[in-house]
Amino acid sequence: MTQHIDRQSIGELAPPNRLMLTPGPSSMDPRVYRALATPLVGHLDPWFKGCMDDTQALLRQIFQTENRITMPLSASGSGGIEASVLNTLEEGDEAIICVNGVFSDRMAVIASHTPAKITKVEAPYGKPVDPEDVRRAGKGKKIKIVGLAHGETSSGVLTQIDPFRKVADELGALLIVDAVASLAGVPLHVDRQHIDICFSGTQKAISAPPGMSPITVSPRAEEVFRTRKSKVQSWYFDLSTAMNYWGKDRLYHHTPPISLIYALREAMRLVVEEGLEARWERHRVNQLALIAGLEAMGLELLAKNPADRLATVTAVMIPDGIDDVMVRSQLLEEFNIEIAGGLGPVKGKIWRVGLMGYCSQKPYVLLFLAALEKVLLDQGFRLPSGAGVGAAIHSYTQARPEAVGVSR
Ligand SMILES: Cc1ncc(COP(=O)(O)O)c(C=O)c1O
Repeated sequence: MTQHIDRQSIGELAPPNRLMLTPGPSSMDPRVYRALATPLVGHLDPWFKGCMDDTQALLRQIFQTENRITMPLSASGSGGIEASVLNTLEEGDEAIICVNGVFSDRMAVIASHTPAKITKVEAPYGKPVDPEDVRRAGKGKKIKIVGLAHGETSSGVLTQIDPFRKVADELGALLIVDAVASLAGVPLHVDRQHIDICFSGTQKAISAPPGMSPITVSPRAEEVFRTRKSKVQSWYFDLSTAMNYWGKDRLYHHTPPISLIYALREAMRLVVEEGLEARWERHRVNQLALIAGLEAMGLELLAKNPADRLATVTAVMIPDGIDDVMVRSQLLEEFNIEIAGGLGPVKGKIWRVGLMGYCSQKPYVLLFLAALEKVLLDQGFRLPSGAGVGAAIHSYTQARPEAVGVSR
């Protein structure tokens, strides 16, 4: 029998106000919430077409590109992966995907849904793939795309793009970059770095709600789309037809999530007001303070080489004898702070702490370190009192003062 539902049993929506120090979604600026609550208009309303122009101009600024195809896909970050590989790969093609965690592996998994031959070049969790391994794997072959995750969120690892561009050029391949966890938090220049397709997610360092995947496509990749022999294996993610709406004609393709576009526009206005370089620096400085604090508490990071660490996501090894879930639950219940656990082979072995966009702030770093100390002490972990906060404060005293907070 269907359960009877009355007004008492399902009350008005009242979610808790969490501090989301996760690898996404991140907490949002009040201005982004306000944008979400503004009046809905139609997706073909003349006013909305101007809002789309603003959104695309801001996206080009944040991607650092002049690419014509630059738009927010109506999909989460995984939709960006799907669009990138489905629009480039067809029967007879070969692709190399650099895999060093769950999300770069997802690119290989999604690519395997196409008829192309997929080769994975792998590195262990905590390290980037070696471009030399890609060169070896592609030698003598006709490779259509090389794909990688700039920020591998499952392990907190940053991959340097330029060496892979060089290898992709030698192989005559397009370079596809997953910047879901890095865009607006880590230096990235789509045009200067000659990235052919780059996509992101709105819920991470841009700090807008989840549900959109900004994507940009180089003229060279556009030419590859034009000369395809077969149809793209998706109607929804065929970027050439989706551009009928996001291009100059603004022709109906599908009904986009209008309120999410408002929120994305406002979140990107915040990015541009702060300045991209200042924002990258803020992420760098706050992560350095977090790491100083964690290490002073006797904790270790998964990525041993500082140059491999992704500024937006820090992967921390869970000490022996400490219960992953109990720590995360206590942080949530006692301090209203959410952090994430590990995925795949590092499940139960690491915590992932996100300092993304709005969440990359000095007060949050210090609050988190103090809260973690309390929780770890309750779990029986021995650590010097106040060591984490003290080391983070020391790290901040070495940094430029404007680089640590949200500047407004
Ligand atoms: C690097 C990376 N790529 C892709 C994704 C998939 O994004 P979504 O969960 O928004 O589909 C994520 C999500 O965390 C990610 O971190």
